[in-house]
Amino acid sequence: MMKGMRSDLNPFGVHKQNNHVLVKLVVSILLVGLAFRLLLSDSISLSSSSSSSSLVVSNHKAESPENNGQTADDEKCDLFVGEWVPNPYGSAYTNESCHVIEDHQNCMKNGRPDLDYLYWRWRPHDCELPKFNPQKFLNLMRNKSWAFIGDSISRNHVQSMLCILSMVEPAVQVYHDEEFKNRIWKFPAHNFTVSVIWAPFLVKADTFEDTNGVSSAEAQLYLDVLESKWIDRYESFDYVVTSGGKWFLRTAVYHENGAVTGCHYCANKSLKELGFEYAYQKALQVAFDFILNSNHKPIVIFRTTTPDHFENAEWYNGGYCNRTMPFKEGQISLRDMDIILRNIELKEFQKAKAKAEAASLGSNHGATSLNLLDLTGLSLLRPDGHPGPYRHFQPFAKDRNAQVQNDCLHWCLPGPIDSWNDLVMQIVINRR
Ligand SMILES: *[C@@H]1O[C@H](CO)[C@@H](O)[C@H](O)[C@H]1NC(C)=O
Ligand SMILES: *[C@@H]1O[C@H](CO)[C@@H](O)[C@H](O)[C@H]1NC(C)=O
Ligand SMILES: *[C@@H]1O[C@H](CO)[C@@H](O)[C@H](O)[C@H]1NC(C)=O
Ligand SMILES: *[C@@H]1O[C@H](CO)[C@@H](O)[C@H](O)[C@H]1NC(C)=O
Ligand SMILES: *[C@@H]1O[C@H](CO)[C@@H](O)[C@H](O)[C@H]1NC(C)=O
Repeated sequence: MMKGMRSDLNPFGVHKQNNHVLVKLVVSILLVGLAFRLLLSDSISLSSSSSSSSLVVSNHKAESPENNGQTADDEKCDLFVGEWVPNPYGSAYTNESCHVIEDHQNCMKNGRPDLDYLYWRWRPHDCELPKFNPQKFLNLMRNKSWAFIGDSISRNHVQSMLCILSMVEPAVQVYHDEEFKNRIWKFPAHNFTVSVIWAPFLVKADTFEDTNGVSSAEAQLYLDVLESKWIDRYESFDYVVTSGGKWFLRTAVYHENGAVTGCHYCANKSLKELGFEYAYQKALQVAFDFILNSNHKPIVIFRTTTPDHFENAEWYNGGYCNRTMPFKEGQISLRDMDIILRNIELKEFQKAKAKAEAASLGSNHGATSLNLLDLTGLSLLRPDGHPGPYRHFQPFAKDRNAQVQNDCLHWCLPGPIDSWNDLVMQIVINRR
């Protein structure tokens, strides 16, 4: 059923057996990374050096996860700067209560032995972040429609939200395509609709993969043409959660104005190497321009890239993620590739936001509501939240030392990804 799963783990689209390409890729990544580190080293400060971060946990009164009325004060508080603190209440749902968890992310069912990763919540330094309240959310969303547009991390996120909402009303799937990459669910009692749309590049893309996710040819990206799957339905959405990310690191040929303009790590040496940064920036610009120019004004939530936590090696050669606790601020820094992606995202988001504000002055359509869901930093601190070997069912049942491919990119359900919705809820409440 989930043909796409292997390719989800292979965001770089490299052929596993082709060491030559791989070495070149790694070298190029290192060089690009180094160049960017030199250029941009002071433009990101994920690991805030604020010494007040040593919050004493016992000072903090345990609060019910259903703490409703309270909202984080948007004015003073940066919701995305904080730390993970113990949460004795654990997750809002279980693998038994939620029926939309994908097998590869159903860590409990697959036999993950430790459960500590469920007992943390995100706490911004300057305010309390109430837990997502599914009843309140569904009441607010009566007659509304949400879309999550992006890659398999968007799918992971939508399933987390559906699981939490299912504690109030179960989601009913009303549509899926052949590969389950595009799906629609309804919450009939609330007339609420949730869609997930597969558009990992946001722009039109032809990709060529076998069922193992190994590319048989490089992707063809049409950098000035948006993926029709999301723009065709855009006017029916009240909320749009969109994102880009790691798929842009793949080898690809770039098209603009109907012609090939260049490529990234491609085989054809007569094409110009433009770099994935160029393509990512261009795709985000085209997507934001569409959003700004549309007369339809949904609430748009742009999610930043979230890091993987493969340690000691990569996804294809034995990298693993077996930590069982969050990091504290400053214990880990973002990898160069994620810094590059995030900086492009922040830059294009801020540009679009400035345009939206300028345009709203003389407009009768109202302002486009652009909201940043800056999850990079808080996700970086959760190496314990991935399936690891438990993307497979009972991977060590037959052989305690079995060598299995780990998933340190997607997130267990339930798991830390559920906290993303606490932040989404704040955006919804503050922008309503
Ligand atoms: C949920 O996980 C438990 C192990 O924690 C497992 O025994 C059970 O079969 C799982 N159920 C479902 C429906 O996934
Ligand atoms: C459900 O919501 C849509 C708008 O999204 C509205 O047109 C429709 O009438 C609603 N249906 C019911 C039964 O309330
Ligand atoms: C939802 O739609 C129905 C049917 O159009 C309407 O009667 C109802 O007032 C709407 N509810 C809200 C909260 O918009
Ligand atoms: C390589 O690119 C050049 C320039 O666009 C083109 O003329 C040629 O056909 C390409 N070769 C292959 C094998 O695709
Ligand atoms: C994680 O795996 C590595 C390599 O197998 C091992 O050395 C380490 O002790 C493990 N850590 C935990 C917390 O299990």
